[in-house]
Amino acid sequence: MAPNISRVCVVVLLCYSSFVAIARGATTPESDNDLLEFPLNLEYLEAEFFLFGALGHGLDVVAPNLTGNGPSPIGAKLANLDKLVRDVILQFAYQEVGHLRAIKSTVKGFPRPLLNLSKESFAKIMDSAFGKTLTPPFDPYANSINYLLASYVIPYVGLTGYVGANPLLQNATSKKLVAGLLGVESGQDAVLRAFLYEHKALVVIPYGVTVAEFTNRISALRNKLGNAGVKDEGLVVPIEEGAEGKVKGNILAGDKESLAYGRTPEEILRIVYGSGDEHVPGGFYPKGALGRIATSYLKTSI
Ligand SMILES: *[C@@H]1O[C@H](CO)[C@@H](O)[C@H](O)[C@H]1NC(C)=O
Ligand SMILES: *[C@@H]1O[C@H](CO)[C@@H](O)[C@H](O)[C@H]1NC(C)=O
Ligand SMILES: *[C@@H]1O[C@H](CO)[C@@H](O)[C@H](O)[C@H]1NC(C)=O
Repeated sequence: MAPNISRVCVVVLLCYSSFVAIARGATTPESDNDLLEFPLNLEYLEAEFFLFGALGHGLDVVAPNLTGNGPSPIGAKLANLDKLVRDVILQFAYQEVGHLRAIKSTVKGFPRPLLNLSKESFAKIMDSAFGKTLTPPFDPYANSINYLLASYVIPYVGLTGYVGANPLLQNATSKKLVAGLLGVESGQDAVLRAFLYEHKALVVIPYGVTVAEFTNRISALRNKLGNAGVKDEGLVVPIEEGAEGKVKGNILAGDKESLAYGRTPEEILRIVYGSGDEHVPGGFYPKGALGRIATSYLKTSI
């Protein structure tokens, strides 16, 4: 009898431990490959938004071999930008092309996901940020200030993703790539914030709301959607949230020690889907983001 009982115990234990392993499977640290391919979702978004904004066309014209034959973005178009802003956005656009190439030459990745970059898509975000319908609807392509505000929505999310991914990476090749991407993404975010900071008191026509208030609202929305505490701050904050609790100006976002905030892929999906739920696609990604991490949530929801 005894041997049988222990055999049962062994079987039960094995079953139990493999059950635990399966249960943990959903949350085990992602591989370097998964963590490196995930940001392609954001890099595609940035590349298309900046290329279209500055040139009126995107990757299909500029770097078709980087699209992997994924669908062309919906609603992206040439923005009505002044000379300086167009000059800078065009530089960002080509930087994003380089980022796509760098990631895709390190990991296999995936084709361009379907992106909704229509003015309605941005208008919806701004309406959510203000908790009411703005009239007329916010149009990111209408002028430089609107385009900069719309751009405030994007590279920062990529930046927090790279900060979040970095400590999870195993090998040196991956860390080098992520550090390189992080450096330039945070540079882009800094440039956008500096442009906006210079005009922080400007009242955005016709909404009667300042540039600073727009950034505060967008950051508050991202914190709400990400659902993981404060990882986002606008351009003017209560003094206790400024650097060392000594300043209200907040040209760069950072924690108590002015270190960049990190976000997980799940938090990022909740934000870029606009749904607050990594299982519910929408927003910029009508059919969801791609890659193993993002699609694992889409499959479980069906
Ligand atoms: C490091 O990660 C990269 C990207 O996933 C991979 O191509 C490479 O083979 C890995 N190197 C080692 C030593 O594991
Ligand atoms: C795409 O083409 C460009 C030049 O036309 C080349 O530099 C780049 O390496 C190619 N990228 C891929 C992923 O094949
Ligand atoms: C793009 O987004 C807007 C705003 O949410 C929506 O009305 C429109 O249907 C979307 N387009 C597609 C193809 O998903």
